[in-house]
Amino acid sequence: MRNEKAFSRDGFYRFVLEANLMLHRNVAESGRRIVSRWLRTHEPKGVIRILDLACGGAPISICNMTRHFDTYQFDYTGIDINPDQIVAAKSFEYPSNFRKIELHEGNAWHFGDLVKGQHFDIVFSGMNLHHGIPEEILAVMMQVKSVLAPNGLLISHDFFRPETEAYLRRPALDPETGEPFCMIPPEALSRIDTKNLPQFKSPGIEERSDWRQPFITKYRLALAQREAAQQGVEEIMAHVNARDYPVSINELIEIARLAGVALEQVPMEADKEPMKDYFCLLSGQTTSN
Ligand SMILES: C[S@@+](CC[C@H](N)C(=O)[O-])C[C@H]1O[C@@H](n2cnc3c(N)ncnc32)[C@H](O)[C@@H]1O
Repeated sequence: MRNEKAFSRDGFYRFVLEANLMLHRNVAESGRRIVSRWLRTHEPKGVIRILDLACGGAPISICNMTRHFDTYQFDYTGIDINPDQIVAAKSFEYPSNFRKIELHEGNAWHFGDLVKGQHFDIVFSGMNLHHGIPEEILAVMMQVKSVLAPNGLLISHDFFRPETEAYLRRPALDPETGEPFCMIPPEALSRIDTKNLPQFKSPGIEERSDWRQPFITKYRLALAQREAAQQGVEEIMAHVNARDYPVSINELIEIARLAGVALEQVPMEADKEPMKDYFCLLSGQTTSN
């Protein structure tokens, strides 16, 4: 995904954001309530440190969740693997209550060295976790737990498989290029204890009914209704087809629990949004285990 066109400057993802097809506006609104409650509960004293995993070039969600709290100051650290997105993020207009902006080009699924010795009050992950297989999600959650400060908050906006559909595991290799799809270097992943992970039974290819196809049909229709450029539509659909094999909301909650993070779904008022059944906001804090 390092140089994927749809997720580069002037790429089609910007259109998707503006059309609110992944509910970024609803996420910002509900996320603001979460941040507000967290501020009231914990009354943090100093500058609030934010870590944004796979921030992209326009980190609108976390910025819109925090910009209204003008009696607080925030230090922002964003990580993205796409150099073009890091350049874009450098010229993004951050809220006036953001004191310091730090951007790293690197792997947000294996980020320990990029933020060595640092802790964060808020970790945000937007449209990112659906690229991982369960073991990788567990590994990234363990990293999140280790960088969250006491009382720290995790906020996650992502794409999920409906609970009623069978899990489909992401293929090991990109069928187009033969490159591995892995988000975490295999030797690092092999050090993670996965024995408590629930069984994710992926049906064999011959019995697969790919639940993503009705999703793609709906998504195409919603884009067509918004007069999206055909080339951009094809780029996004190719990405979903090749790479997006998300877990369900309950599975993510269970994986996070195993890593010591208690996540719960955050209600959003998104009744009018055509893709509302597939996108969700969760938030939570670390547990003491
Ligand atoms: C769908 S965009 C999400 C952008 C933004 N966080 C949002 O909420 O809209 C996915 C982003 O993840 C980045 N990405 C993909 N794999 C990554 C990785 N291993 N480490 C860091 N960033 C990654 C891409 O470059 C892209 O900017």
